[in-house]
Amino acid sequence: MQHIRYQDNQLYCEDIPLHELVEEFDTPLYVYSKNQIVENFRALDTPLAGTNHVICYALKANSNVSLLKVLANEGAGADVVSAGELYLALKAGFSPEKIAFAGVGKREGEIEYALKEGIYSINVESTQELQLISLIAMRLHTKARISLRVNPDIDAESHPYITTGLRSNKFGISGDKALEAFRLAATLSSIEVIGVHTHIGSQITKVEPFVEAAKYVAGLVAKLREANILIHHIDFGGGFGVQYADAVRHEAVPVEENNSAIPALGDFVTAVLPILQPTGCSLWLEPGRSIVANAGILLTKVLYTKENGTKKFVVVDAGMNDLIRPSLYNAHHQIVPLKIETYEHEKVDIVGPICETGDFLARDRMLSKVKRNDGLAVMTTGAYGFVNTSNYNARLHPAEIMVNGEKVRVIRERQTLEQL
Ligand code: LLP
Repeated sequence: MQHIRYQDNQLYCEDIPLHELVEEFDTPLYVYSKNQIVENFRALDTPLAGTNHVICYALKANSNVSLLKVLANEGAGADVVSAGELYLALKAGFSPEKIAFAGVGKREGEIEYALKEGIYSINVESTQELQLISLIAMRLHTKARISLRVNPDIDAESHPYITTGLRSNKFGISGDKALEAFRLAATLSSIEVIGVHTHIGSQITKVEPFVEAAKYVAGLVAKLREANILIHHIDFGGGFGVQYADAVRHEAVPVEENNSAIPALGDFVTAVLPILQPTGCSLWLEPGRSIVANAGILLTKVLYTKENGTKKFVVVDAGMNDLIRPSLYNAHHQIVPLKIETYEHEKVDIVGPICETGDFLARDRMLSKVKRNDGLAVMTTGAYGFVNTSNYNARLHPAEIMVNGEKVRVIRERQTLEQL
């Protein structure tokens, strides 16, 4: 079910008309649908019911503690990439046996923290890191459970900033050195090698790259077994793509070009399961975006409209400091009015208040005609939205709201000037 949708010419999140939240909490404002998060989680979890598995939510997508608690209560695990994320995961109630710690640049103190908390796996990205973990584990008189992150050299056909599984990317240990690294790990007395980790990129909109990666991983597990290195755990990463164009529809809202049909969430899982299941390994997935992206929106208000030369601009109160994705990746987010008041459209640039030309939410976009103080929703911003907010231009971090049916809860207060 789509929990953010039009009803009676108003945009709703669950049972709440969003313009009411603007009136009460002001803008810019992030709003999340609790039930959408739960449904997305279950869409990935259910196809794995017969398999020993954990859906480890990747905190980097959105690490608001209240949102994390929703997922911890659903039985999710956590994929963390820093001491900060580990701290938040533990605070939200994720059990340490369902936490994996990934990341190409772990600091010594972070490794020590992870070992002391007894998390399930540290996913190791280089032989130097492996040796450091071994030393720290020895010092702590413990044994470190690790998986080795292998870079399978697969093109995920995503934005170049977010493909991670190519040889030329900084991530993991390259395929040709993998066996050697596993052999080295097996010789270290303070290391217990439990598995293999891979993650080929983010916003991947086809199943084929995942199928290729699954075949690679299953082949590697077999090779390791031949070499008498018996691993029993596969962490297959995240990266399942979501639909950004045409996130909501109303006959008054311009239809967006939407030529790539994105597989349903469960389809990503069912495509790789027959390849990975026969390995007999436990299967962990690390989705971030696919659980939270379409459960969140950024609400903003029109400050001014103006024309410069041939261009029409709609200046809104949310900028690149509130949502960096359009400026950083040229990412597309549908932008729609909170109340349908006209069927007229015009081509505009929707820009923020930041003193940079690169501060835009959309360029050359057909938008419903708007005027000062109209409320707009920037769709599909639950993932990599708030987490990437900044105080650039000394603007304040927006507030965050969770909607559950008719219930509305502030899950992060708007920052104040005194907190700058
Ligand atoms: N696991 C690892 C090791 C990762 O590096 C990532 C994302 C994930 C899991 C989760 O991937 P997801 O399911 O969310 O695609 N800021 C960018 C996305 C960066 C993704 C980085 N790694 C954006 O706004 O598109």
